[in-house]
Amino acid sequence: MSQETWVLASHNAGKIKEMEQILAPFGIALKSARDLDLPEPEETETTFRGNAALKARAACEATGLPCLADDSGLSVDALGGDPGIYSARWAGEPRDFMRAMQRVEGALNETGASDRTARFVCTIALARPGEGVSFFEGEVVGDIVWPPRGPGGFGYDPVFQPRGHDRTFGEMSADEKRQLSHRARALDAMTRAEFGS
Ligand code: IMP
Repeated sequence: MSQETWVLASHNAGKIKEMEQILAPFGIALKSARDLDLPEPEETETTFRGNAALKARAACEATGLPCLADDSGLSVDALGGDPGIYSARWAGEPRDFMRAMQRVEGALNETGASDRTARFVCTIALARPGEGVSFFEGEVVGDIVWPPRGPGGFGYDPVFQPRGHDRTFGEMSADEKRQLSHRARALDAMTRAEFGS
């Protein structure tokens, strides 16, 4: 099988490793923005698609190679989709996700809503030189629980309990979470569309 090189417009080691493993069987060698020393563009758009496309296009223009980028976050229904594209920013600087989780819980209590539905969403953008950008989406629905539970994962994992499960993402092993996650679902949509499997 001939090898093709793609770029992942991310400096996140966890994402790079996960995507490398998924793409290898399709003959894709993945280089990261970090390997290529590409700058990280500021996420100035107002949608997951906008931010993913902005990162994929910038890397594609800089390298002339097919480039992937993802944008993801937690959307809480009773908060009108917040924190959404601002999920990382709700953790402040330096990032403190206990503070971000408290902010979600506080905002939910303020609304007085009994609906605690939330979803992790992930949009992947694929930019190919001379072509438009394709998008692939993945989502996992669950509920916000309080207090946070579990030492695993990252970000909002300890307060997110996927529907049909009695443990949070923070209480699941990495493998278990990967089976369910929004990122895995978006990647699956991409490999099915691009490689037919
Ligand atoms: P980005 O896609 O790397 O910009 O991530 C956005 C933010 O969304 C992260 O910093 C986390 O706060 C949140 N997030 C995205 N995916 C997950 C997840 O799988 N678990 C917990 N938090 C997540």
